[in-house]
Amino acid sequence: MSILIKNGRIVNASEDYVADLLILNGKISAIGQNFQVNAEQVIDASGKIVFAGAIDPHVHLDMPFMGTFSSDNYETGTLAALHGGTTTVIDFVLQTQGKSLGYALDQWKSRSNGNCYGDYSFHMAVTDFNEGTKSEIRTMIQQEGITSFKTFMAYKGALMIDDGQMIQLMQEVNKQGGMVTVHATNGDMIDTLIAKHKREGKLTPLYHYLSQPEVTEAEASNRFAELAEYTGVPAYIVHMTCEGALNAIRRSTMRNKRVMAETCIQYLMLDARLYEREDGAKWVMSPPLREPKDQDALWAGLRQGLIQVVATDHCPFTWEKKELGRNDFSKIPNGHPAIEHRVELLYSEGVAKGKISINKFVEVLCANPAKIFGMYPRKGTISIGADADVVIFDPNARHTLSAKTHHMNVDYSSYEGVEVQGKCETVILRGKVAVDKGEVKIPKGYGQYIKRDHVKVM
Ligand code: URP
Ligand code: ZN
Ligand code: ZN
Repeated sequence: MSILIKNGRIVNASEDYVADLLILNGKISAIGQNFQVNAEQVIDASGKIVFAGAIDPHVHLDMPFMGTFSSDNYETGTLAALHGGTTTVIDFVLQTQGKSLGYALDQWKSRSNGNCYGDYSFHMAVTDFNEGTKSEIRTMIQQEGITSFKTFMAYKGALMIDDGQMIQLMQEVNKQGGMVTVHATNGDMIDTLIAKHKREGKLTPLYHYLSQPEVTEAEASNRFAELAEYTGVPAYIVHMTCEGALNAIRRSTMRNKRVMAETCIQYLMLDARLYEREDGAKWVMSPPLREPKDQDALWAGLRQGLIQVVATDHCPFTWEKKELGRNDFSKIPNGHPAIEHRVELLYSEGVAKGKISINKFVEVLCANPAKIFGMYPRKGTISIGADADVVIFDPNARHTLSAKTHHMNVDYSSYEGVEVQGKCETVILRGKVAVDKGEVKIPKGYGQYIKRDHVKVM
């Protein structure tokens, strides 16, 4: 199969030029000017931006959580991702406390195998570090291609590990050449505030927000950075939301250390005023949305290179499930749908409004997630020899987001009625047109599991 893309504006993390692109047998085969070749398909990309398929390194598909499952499974979630220009996702396997990592991985494989439209990989969440778990780290890295190990400093009794487990895990992962990532919030403090608000009869979604003040994230981010520095392990903070947490990693940079960080599109776009609405449960996620001053800090963190990735933490629940917490915010399943809209929202809010450059946009959506999570240069770049994961993007097309038209399996949109500038018009995955002007061209099961290489510290 061959595809020739003519006259596109090719953008990589540090390049921006107009050229033709030839795709052969699933790979990018040549880039140049005025190609005269007989390709099976020719796409005129004049006036369009051409960049590598985006990678979302933080999604939860078909995940058992808070008594239910996230509502997008591997089929609906990876397809919605493709509609929005994301060709590869990294999902989280969650160890059950008392059980092995291998047991959890088998469960996640049984839900995902053969069901994905887009490419996918796994992080392993270690929720119970012991001698057994320790012996599995090497196998995960060497046999399964899982090189990143997620930890939770919150969700006590289900997912949280203590600091003793954290440093032992960090030491083992460091020895085996992996990376430790973290949900960095102070679980004990949050649980105390939740209990206090419940005792006082303060039960609306606003109290989800008020139970997780900025200090809970700033303190845990700082603690994690200190422990990472002590153990020397490559380290990455997921879903960073606020100035206090950003300053924790800024301080470690001032000591010539490096903790990498990811924020999510919702923290750049939305703020905590939404929790005062009647339907505030739609935005109940952890950590919660913050203040406009935090949004300013996060945009600055991106520009300054302190934050390397924009992900989604896609973890949707239908409104019926959100309603489980109608009379008690602590029962609202935590999570938010965004897998489909991250690329277009970041272009519209970031590039079109002049907050970040087009190169930074590609860097934080494509190149950096590929590098950090061991998939570069196979993915994350328009370069000869890379997988032909390509987005042809119309920077001038305007459209309005709505639950009526999105492809995610959730009956509301967090961005209902928001008008965005820029649209993913054609999305190619490993040399096949996957989605073209909203039409799906590949079968379920086309998505491949991607074994990842060792971590690269940015
Ligand atoms: O609210 C969230 N973020 N739900 C998913 C689990 C997590 O903490 O990432
Ligand atoms: Zn989290
Ligand atoms: Zn998450």
